[in-house]
Formats: sequence, structure tokens, C-alpha cells
Amino acid sequence: MPLGKRIAAPAEKPPGPHAGNPSPQAEGFTLFQAEEPGYTFDDIILNHDTYDAIQDVLALYGKRELLFDQWGLGATHKKQNRAGINLYGHPGTGKSMAAHAIAHQLGKKLLIVDYSQIESKYVGETAKNLVAMFQYAKDSQSIIFFDEADALLSRRVTNMSNSTDVSVNQTRSVLLVLINDYDDLILFATNFITNYDPAFIRRIPAHIKFELPDEENRRRLWRMYIPRKMPTDADIQKLAADYSGVSGADISNAVLNASLRAARREEKLVCHACFAEAIERIISSKADNSGLGEQASRRTVSEDYVKEQFGGVLPK
Ligand SMILES: Nc1ncnc2c1ncn2[C@@H]1O[C@H](COP(=O)(O)OP(=O)(O)OP(=O)(O)O)[C@@H](O)[C@H]1O
Ligand SMILES: [Mg+2]
Repeated sequence: MPLGKRIAAPAEKPPGPHAGNPSPQAEGFTLFQAEEPGYTFDDIILNHDTYDAIQDVLALYGKRELLFDQWGLGATHKKQNRAGINLYGHPGTGKSMAAHAIAHQLGKKLLIVDYSQIESKYVGETAKNLVAMFQYAKDSQSIIFFDEADALLSRRVTNMSNSTDVSVNQTRSVLLVLINDYDDLILFATNFITNYDPAFIRRIPAHIKFELPDEENRRRLWRMYIPRKMPTDADIQKLAADYSGVSGADISNAVLNASLRAARREEKLVCHACFAEAIERIISSKADNSGLGEQASRRTVSEDYVKEQFGGVLPK
């Protein structure tokens, strides 16, 4: 589930003397906007391994002097004093939240990049925009976060049969260089990818898996998302024990859905069965949708669109 404000594609430019002027700031809109992190680690229920793995990578920042000067890693691990983290795993397990929490812990802003927008909307303008984006992140001291970066990290198109594939590969080649040369933290979040591009994977030192919550964490999530002052007879132990295979997002949604229904029916309380029914509905809709994932995540851009972006001529 997307979180936060994304880098927007430039708004339509008004026709007039400025038409064709490439300066986005002068046109009165902002191409990149870093934001204050919206979550801290106190807001996220994570298992210990995941949390520890994140903190290990962040030690690069807190313990840089000890590691690279006093312990000598500066000589043996020359280009490895920078960090990249790919947060990967099931949908709705807190990956986007964790990116916010990491930025918060480091006292930085987050520059959230929707890579799918870059591929589809920046065709033709890509290289320029990407360079500007990395520069902006550097100048504003913010952390670049490629949220939902599945398309970016999946294998590049090798059988380039059309201009869309060509431009997508060009985008990724530019990005590879920029990522390679950048010497601050870059975050990525992805769902499970079956077909990683090794060129990208090699450049990201840490891959941290987000699991679905176990029973103990489900208990904590139900407890966290059912407000203390809500009138309810919910048995949280039982909800956590009875419904496995659900994410933090599922539990949060179930609480909301159950509350809406109870309010609409003017119930005196949001009953245990209301929550049970709501999470069951979510589980069954996930099962119904499970075959559609791949189909839904594929994005195509028409050749006409690409042609338009290249000024009427398709690139060779
Ligand atoms: N580990 C968690 N702890 C607390 N709340 C969670 C957790 N995971 C998910 N949530 C809830 O679900 C919502 C979505 O979480 P988030 O966007 O971070 O998931 P995600 O892993 O990035 O999902 P996706 O893969 O779909 O992008 C959060 O706003 C929060 O309400
Ligand atoms: Mg996410």
C-alpha cells in the first residue's frame, strides 16, 4: 500500500512564451519534494531479526568512526562505507513504514520516488530528471526511497522489440550509474520478486526480509489497532490465534471495516464476531485475488505515447 507523497510528474504546462522551457521550478511546481518521516520504529511491530538487520546497517552511520577509522575497515572495505537497503517481503508488512522510521532515526527527510511513474511518465526526459533528483536529495540531505521498486529491480528487458523497452532500459542504465556513484543511503521497498536484475542487486548491500507476523506479533497488532476507548468484547488472544497468514495492513483494515459496520448498524459495541468476520472477509478476498497479482503489476506504455515523448520519432 503506498504511503506518503510521491514525486509527481510535472503538471501540464500552460501554452505561452514559456512553452518548452525545461525549468520545472520556474513553472511554479515542484518536481521533487522531500517530506518529514511519518513513522518511527515505535509505530511498527517487527520481528527481532528484521529489526536487528536494519539496525546493523544503520550502524554504518552511528559507528562510522569506530568501524572505518579505529577498526580499519576504511582500508579493507574502501567503497563500502555507504548503505543501500532493499526492504522486501509480503505486501502490508510495514516496509514503507520502516523506510520512514529509518529516515526518522537518522534525522533526515525522505524523498519518495515512485519508480513506475518515472518509467511511464518521464520517457524521453528520464536522464535529466533522474540526475536532478539525485542532486536534490544530496542538497536537501534527504534519503532517496524507491518505494514499490519491483519493476526497477526486476531483470532488464533483453529482447528489445519495441521503443518502450528501449527507453525503459535506458532509464535503468542511467539509474545504475547514479546509484553506483551516490555515496549516501538509498532505500528500496519491493514485494517478492522472482526475477531480480543482478546488476541492481549487486549494488544494494543489504536485503532485509519482512515476514508476515507470527502469533505474538499478531496479538500486538490487534492490540495496537483496536483503540483503547472503543467499546468491544474482542478476545485479542483468540483473534491472533485463529487468523494466521494476515499482515499488519490486514489487521488494521479489519479493525476499520468492523468498526464502520458496527457504527452503521448502531451497535453498542464492536463485537468479537465483527472483527472475526472482517478479517475473514479480507482473507477470502486475498485468496480470490491471488491469481491476479502478476497481471495487475504489469504496466505498459503505448508506442504512440513513446513516439509523442520523442517528438514524433521512435528511437532506433
Ligand atoms: N509491521 C507493522 N506494524 C504496524 N502496522 C503495520 C505493520 N505492517 C503494516 N501495518 C499497517 O499497514 C499499513 C501499510 O503498511 P506499509 O505500507 O508499510 O506496508 P508495505 O509492506 O509497504 O506494503 P506494500 O508491499 O503493499 O507496499 C500501515 O499504514 C499500517 O497501518
Ligand atoms: Mg509499501
